[in-house]
Amino acid sequence: MIVRKNMGRASSLLLVLICLGFFFATYNLITMVMHHKAASSWDSVADGLDWVNPLAGMHKEVKTMGNSGVRFHVALTATDAPYSKWQCRIMYYWYKKVKDMPRSDMGGFTRILHSGSPDNLMEEIPTFVVDPLPDGLDRGYIVLNRPWAFVQWLEKATIEEEYVLMAEPDHIFVNPLPNLAHGDHPTAYPFFYIKPTENEKIIRKFYPEELGPVSDVDPIGNSPAIIKKSLLEIIAPTWMNVSLRMKDDPETDKAFGWVLEMYAYAVASSLHGVRHILHKDFMIQPPWDLVVGKNFIIHYTYGCDYDMKGKLTYGKIGEWRFDKRSYLRGPPPRNLSLPPPGVPESVVRLVKMVNEATANIPGWDAL
Ligand SMILES: *[C@@H]1O[C@H](CO)[C@@H](O)[C@H](O)[C@H]1NC(C)=O
Ligand SMILES: *[C@@H]1O[C@H](CO)[C@@H](O)[C@H](O)[C@H]1NC(C)=O
Repeated sequence: MIVRKNMGRASSLLLVLICLGFFFATYNLITMVMHHKAASSWDSVADGLDWVNPLAGMHKEVKTMGNSGVRFHVALTATDAPYSKWQCRIMYYWYKKVKDMPRSDMGGFTRILHSGSPDNLMEEIPTFVVDPLPDGLDRGYIVLNRPWAFVQWLEKATIEEEYVLMAEPDHIFVNPLPNLAHGDHPTAYPFFYIKPTENEKIIRKFYPEELGPVSDVDPIGNSPAIIKKSLLEIIAPTWMNVSLRMKDDPETDKAFGWVLEMYAYAVASSLHGVRHILHKDFMIQPPWDLVVGKNFIIHYTYGCDYDMKGKLTYGKIGEWRFDKRSYLRGPPPRNLSLPPPGVPESVVRLVKMVNEATANIPGWDAL
């Protein structure tokens, strides 16, 4: 599916901003409120977070089953940089491998390419091209393009599935992913470094007191999350607006840094009264998580550095290493060396999966 939007950049942005005004004026009227103020948080407070489980009181079975059988569309936001491309190719390879396995509710796949024009992966990966933000608006913080990309895609694309998984290029599907959302309740991965309650003063600039406690803001980003398309259509424009306002506010920009756009999604959801079911088994993040187990996604955002005895040397370049940032300008070579003995299974599995993908993707080195 190769689609070019033809509406002018400026005019559609204007339209969005007008809509945003409308949303902000009416967000407290929106009735999709899920404020079940149950006290128990089922995932303990291991991270020192004090969130509310929107499904507290429901049977545990129900929570973990989610919308079993209801398919979701996999939506991957990406750019045409070589660094983004090789990760997308690996990501799509593993999507195809696990998609039809038992328990999978994975539907179609779209790479939402927010660099404005088609690239040389259009034939390999189903892609929908959208515009980047107008020049200068992202201030070099490229991920600010993500909310705008979702706004455009949801508005223009024909998406068969009722649900959407928001995914990123450095995600590898390691197990078939069921629909973990539950009806109107989206589901997301709780990040240990997203701490709304520890940033009350800043959150309050965007989430006024009359709407509820700061703990209403989930410790999440937009990805990975599975959400009803109709809800995301409402949240995405607000997410865009909040992320631009956060970026515009020096104190917020400084405090949130590279995770600003994650906070913006969390706040935007709360502004619409939407709480997420927090699923820790959604993904693992090597080298911190040691085993794959029944988790669904490997997120390889952290460098994996080890000495030859298999000891983690995080922050210091290891004798053996796998770090996506070593390959900013082009793809990693095929057949990367496996880690030395003693390195956690999650890291071994990651490298093996990268190797399997690169061995089987035609023309791996050519692009
Ligand atoms: C965001 O929405 C607010 C409220 O409608 C509006 O005043 C503001 O200009 C918008 N900001 C951006 C950057 O879109
Ligand atoms: C991959 O590399 C190893 C050495 O690290 C070598 O023994 C093996 O034959 C290589 N496999 C392929 C398919 O090139």
